[in-house]
Amino acid sequence: MGRAKRVVLAYSGGVDTSVCIPYLLEEWGVEEVITFAADLGQGDELEPIRLKALEAGASQSLVGDLIKPFVEEFAFPAIQANALYEGRYPLSTALARPLIAQKLVQVARELGADAVAHGCTGKGNDQVRFDVAIAGLAPELKVLAPAREWGMSREETIAYGERFGIPAPVSKKSPYSIDLNLLGRSIEAGILEDPMAPPPEEIFAMTSSIEEAPNEPLEIEIAFEGGRPVAIDGECLDPVELVHRANSLAGKHGIGRIDLIENRVVGIKSREIYETPGLLLLIQAHKELETLTLAADVLRTKANLEAQWADLVYQGLWFGPLKEALDGFIKNTQEYVNGLVRLRLYKGNSIVIGRASSENSLYKPEMATYGDDDIFDHKAAEGFIYIWGLSSRVWAESSKHG
Ligand code: ARG
Repeated sequence: MGRAKRVVLAYSGGVDTSVCIPYLLEEWGVEEVITFAADLGQGDELEPIRLKALEAGASQSLVGDLIKPFVEEFAFPAIQANALYEGRYPLSTALARPLIAQKLVQVARELGADAVAHGCTGKGNDQVRFDVAIAGLAPELKVLAPAREWGMSREETIAYGERFGIPAPVSKKSPYSIDLNLLGRSIEAGILEDPMAPPPEEIFAMTSSIEEAPNEPLEIEIAFEGGRPVAIDGECLDPVELVHRANSLAGKHGIGRIDLIENRVVGIKSREIYETPGLLLLIQAHKELETLTLAADVLRTKANLEAQWADLVYQGLWFGPLKEALDGFIKNTQEYVNGLVRLRLYKGNSIVIGRASSENSLYKPEMATYGDDDIFDHKAAEGFIYIWGLSSRVWAESSKHG
């Protein structure tokens, strides 16, 4: 347990991070708490959050709009990596943590703080991501995690806050634990802790149910340059706008709901529901365009590295050496990922129905065709197969197998 004089606290405006302010000041003898709240497109109004931190005792309350770097430096690399943790979760929460950590470190250095703090508990992945990211950026800074140590129940936390003028949550508390940003929502707890319980419709906010989704399919085209999505239906969009558009198109058609039993870094299996409509759609389209523009061996190697990339981002190793090395490989491949993908969105499905690349397609119609303009040398196959199958023939003919 570290102690510090001046602390920069990652602040969300919720009860837990609010209680961290008086707790650090009163229980841990911190002299000054400066809060930092990030706008990651979660749709909260930041001004009330900024004031709330001051009311709870922060000496300074800072807010920062991080949406643009979040999309350009975190979401787009994840799309280029086709990153899906355990094959399914596109890391919408995980991607936000290293960016927040980066900002905390920057603020701490600017204001001469000797520690940063967060309100994560000891059971989740987010504590791992914050602590490890901060260690990777600023090993000299202490990381304080009061909620990991205070041992208060939810009721006790609220009561503690009330002593310092932190209002109890007004509405009856939702039974769910929700994290959200522009890339998606994660929903845990309540009835969802029963892995057999179907997710209630009320938990969803970015996606339609299959029933509500339009009865008519919608065809869309997503264009990529250098592996980055740049346009939807021929309209060039800036990165943030593009993610918004992808979210609304996919969400409307009921695409992007995920229900999984996930393996946390701390060894716990947990039942998690996500809705990440735009990010899943963009990864699907990007992966498809790579099938046209990347060579077979590059695709196979990349698929293995993608799984490693997703694992290490999930596990909090964004600012580590393997991440940097894998990024080098991925960056090199993305130069060729130019073109567009056509998809049909319908009732919870996004189905690829076409792909094209004018400059980088490795698909050669004259090689693939069964028509008259076929240029493939059929006879050459015989010699190739003779050599390819030689070891099998020798093995079959050997005395041991005769
Ligand atoms: N299990 C997900 C992840 O590790 C979601 C975590 C949600 N975080 C939260 N503080 N509610 O990425």
